[in-house]
Amino acid sequence: MATPTTLIIGANSEIAKALALQTVQENNNALIVITRDASFYHQPLFHNSKVITLADYQEQSIVEAIELLKASTETLVTNVFICHGLLHNKHVTPEKRLQAFDVDSFTEVINANTVTPMLWLKNLVPYLSGKQVCKIVTFSARVGSISDNKIGGWYSYRASKAATNMLLKSAAIELSRTAKNIKLISFHPGTTDSPLSKPFQKNVPEGKLFTSEFVASQLFNIVANTDLDGEASFLDWKGESIPW
Ligand SMILES: NC(=O)c1ccc[n+]([C@@H]2O[C@H](COP(=O)([O-])OP(=O)(O)OC[C@H]3O[C@@H](n4cnc5c(N)ncnc54)[C@H](OP(=O)(O)O)[C@@H]3O)[C@@H](O)[C@H]2O)c1
Repeated sequence: MATPTTLIIGANSEIAKALALQTVQENNNALIVITRDASFYHQPLFHNSKVITLADYQEQSIVEAIELLKASTETLVTNVFICHGLLHNKHVTPEKRLQAFDVDSFTEVINANTVTPMLWLKNLVPYLSGKQVCKIVTFSARVGSISDNKIGGWYSYRASKAATNMLLKSAAIELSRTAKNIKLISFHPGTTDSPLSKPFQKNVPEGKLFTSEFVASQLFNIVANTDLDGEASFLDWKGESIPW
């Protein structure tokens, strides 16, 4: 019989690692991870997990990774977590001012935060559609809410997350007709201690910088308690809806 399986993509993210640890330590699901850097998954805890490494997130690499997934015939994917996120790196700094907007940085951010998750969704849906309920979580951010934007700034990151939200909303409408077993969730983890938030942590109020373990356990509860309703949900770490 096929084993219920959790699939974690972009699995080298700090939050992804916490999701993976909780999957093998606390849940009954089997685990498959996909990442460019699988070194974290070489520890014995993961010896029963399937680890797929890819060189980049070009569509061809994504298609090849999914072919490897399909080869595991005992696998029944019930939860997917798409964890990609880029806020800063050596050449990208979130913009404080309009004059800091830069085409190359914007392209890099939109590729990581929007195009890559969308390519996973596009190529996974034909494999995941069927009778088994499957919940796909894509990591977003509250700053991607257009109606919640009160302070501006971070142009590229905000726009990339807003675009991801719009893509998920549209995809959910299509899937409500063509793949009714799939539920899409756009998730805001809250400010979480990770390389992504590191440079921006000093102004976070006391008690508002979460551990990745806390966020992972919140997210597992949220996924378990979110129904298949033919719509995309935009939810925060408390499980509360965020206005689009
Ligand atoms: N941490 C926070 O405070 C916070 C707040 C709001 C929203 N979020 C969102 O939560 C998610 C997870 O964040 P995190 O804090 O766990 O991040 P993290 O530890 O910095 O991990 C970054 C992730 O993004 C992937 N990535 C980095 N550059 C990429 C690129 N150029 N193309 C494609 N993928 C790329 C990495 O993939 P590999 O596994 O292949 O290395 C890794 O999975 C992100 O979507 C982030 O935007 C985080």
